[in-house]
Amino acid sequence: MGSLTTKSPEETLIFGENFGKCLKPGDIVLLFGDLGAGKTTLTQGICKGLGLPVGEYIRSPTFTLINEYLGKIPIYHIDLYRMESLAEIESLGLEEVLFGTGVSIVEWSEKLFPIDNNPSPILGIDERIEVRITYEDESRRSFCVQPVHMEARSFPDFSLQ
Ligand SMILES: Nc1ncnc2c1ncn2[C@@H]1O[C@H](COP(=O)(O)OP(=O)(O)O)[C@@H](O)[C@H]1O
Ligand SMILES: [Mg+2]
Repeated sequence: MGSLTTKSPEETLIFGENFGKCLKPGDIVLLFGDLGAGKTTLTQGICKGLGLPVGEYIRSPTFTLINEYLGKIPIYHIDLYRMESLAEIESLGLEEVLFGTGVSIVEWSEKLFPIDNNPSPILGIDERIEVRITYEDESRRSFCVQPVHMEARSFPDFSLQ
């Protein structure tokens, strides 16, 4: 699907907010991108779009693994940064969250994919929205949004309006 380039963290928040408004209970958003790409910034915008009151403190759940926020629906913000193997991730019981009725947003989704270029993530994840973030320069980031196996849903072409 579409891609879009933001020129500041503020623009990324606006994009995230528009994107968040399109999400529904049970949706899984997989974020890909290096440290500093903008995964957490985008997540902040998504949370706003899902009705989380502005001012709620949203940060990478690097030490807690998972943060839960209560927007109009539960939001689970998961950070796999510290996970060292597929087996470790599989031992967490994340399925309960991922296949529940909240929206799940995963940072470091690269770690859900076996290294042999298998296009399917582990944990039985099938329908998902993949967002790949590329660092263009200090203030610009590109976002490529690709829903996978979500043919029944339509997403707009995101703009920064
Ligand atoms: N266009 C942009 N979109 C998002 N973040 C940006 C942008 N330009 C600069 N930044 C900066 O990049 C950093 C992104 O950090 P963060 O969202 O925590 O990334 P990640 O969670 O991927 O490690 C922040 O310091 C932010 O201010
Ligand atoms: Mg982060």
